[in-house]
Amino acid sequence: MVDGGRRLEGKVRISGAKNASLPILAASLMATQPVILRNIPQISDVEIMLAMLTALGMSCSWLDDHTLKLVPPKQLNTKAPEKLLREMRASILVVGPVLAKEGKVIVTQPGGCNIGPRPIDYHIKGMEALGANIREDSGMIIFEAEQLKGAEIMLDYPSVGATENIMCAAAVGSGKTVIHNAAKEPEIIELQNFLNLLGARVKGAGTDRITIVGVDSLGGTDYSVIPDRIEAGTYLVAGAITSGDVTVEPVIIDHLEAILAKLLEMGFAITKEANSVRIQATGRGKAIALRSMPYPGFPTDMLPEMIPLLCLADGISMVYETVFASRLKHVDDLVRMGARIKTEGRLAMITGVPALHGTTVRATDLRAGAALILAGLAANGQTIVENAEHIDRGYEDIVGKLQSVGAEIVARDL
Ligand code: UD1
Repeated sequence: MVDGGRRLEGKVRISGAKNASLPILAASLMATQPVILRNIPQISDVEIMLAMLTALGMSCSWLDDHTLKLVPPKQLNTKAPEKLLREMRASILVVGPVLAKEGKVIVTQPGGCNIGPRPIDYHIKGMEALGANIREDSGMIIFEAEQLKGAEIMLDYPSVGATENIMCAAAVGSGKTVIHNAAKEPEIIELQNFLNLLGARVKGAGTDRITIVGVDSLGGTDYSVIPDRIEAGTYLVAGAITSGDVTVEPVIIDHLEAILAKLLEMGFAITKEANSVRIQATGRGKAIALRSMPYPGFPTDMLPEMIPLLCLADGISMVYETVFASRLKHVDDLVRMGARIKTEGRLAMITGVPALHGTTVRATDLRAGAALILAGLAANGQTIVENAEHIDRGYEDIVGKLQSVGAEIVARDL
């Protein structure tokens, strides 16, 4: 429940990155010695991944609020529980690690955020190229390989998850693998750094060509995860949409460039420091054109959160989502709050209005849910966001963090 119209002011502490934590947790399955992971966010997607790791035989314990200790078993289980795969798409990231370590893994098609069809064909093609034998049996996908072999792999699309799965699968085994048209997201660089600390030989992450030379086995390590660039972007929008003055810290400025460029283009004042960014907003901001792209383009995960801001901007904005089919699910609810938006498939035309009004809305997925909270912060009156548990998948303590900068927001079971 959000009572809108409060100007947000102050500093928001940014948690560790969800999309770095999940692949690193999955990659830990390949360790043969204990792994300590620091700055892991307390979000429900991490809980699901920990349940998956535990089901596969890892012993996982929290040393403090954000530090995990993972102790690998002698041998992993090779069947991933269907329920966890259905709950979260990123569960598919266990395929590469378990296959590399045990020579076998059994999964079903993963589920996850309801943002359009999300097949796993690139993952399957990648494992096949590395020499895995893959078959389907009563809804199960069974991957088997006595020994994975290095290969030249050209991805049809720079898929983040497929790049990560292939990096892991190729890290243990024989020979050299080259991934062409690899995803270039910062979280891929994080996975490379983590794998190399475990003893892997990976280079090129951050470019579209990643080379992995398989080693016999991996050890253990101690690793701290980078700040979440999407969480940081979300709180910057919270500052902008409330005509506020919000600083996010810690952040890695480079990772935020695409988001900051658009906020600057809208006319908001941005101050960059070594590991923080401050946004100062005095008015509604100007309309812009916005298009999501793989990194270093504007992140698809941040596109839904920009929409409420554009709803209140001066002029007509055009928004085009290129990565997922159904990123605009919150548009109907925003229209019910007074926004003027026309959509055509992945395209939205937004005519800015001077104000939104609160009402009851429903989160359909993680980012759309966060966007509805942002709309509620700016709206006149009260906004109730139902199904808000989607938001806990990726935002640690969003209610507490917003309260700390002056928002009137509470979480309540209805
Ligand atoms: C990751 C992120 C997610 C982000 C997305 C794009 C994690 C845990 N999640 O998801 O937050 O929105 O990157 O930046 O890091 N595709 C296929 N076949 C495949 C794989 C993907 O067609 O085998 C398609 C997808 O449907 C989508 C596009 O490729 O249209 C990009 O997906 P991908 O980059 O793989 O996203 P994820 O790794 O699932």
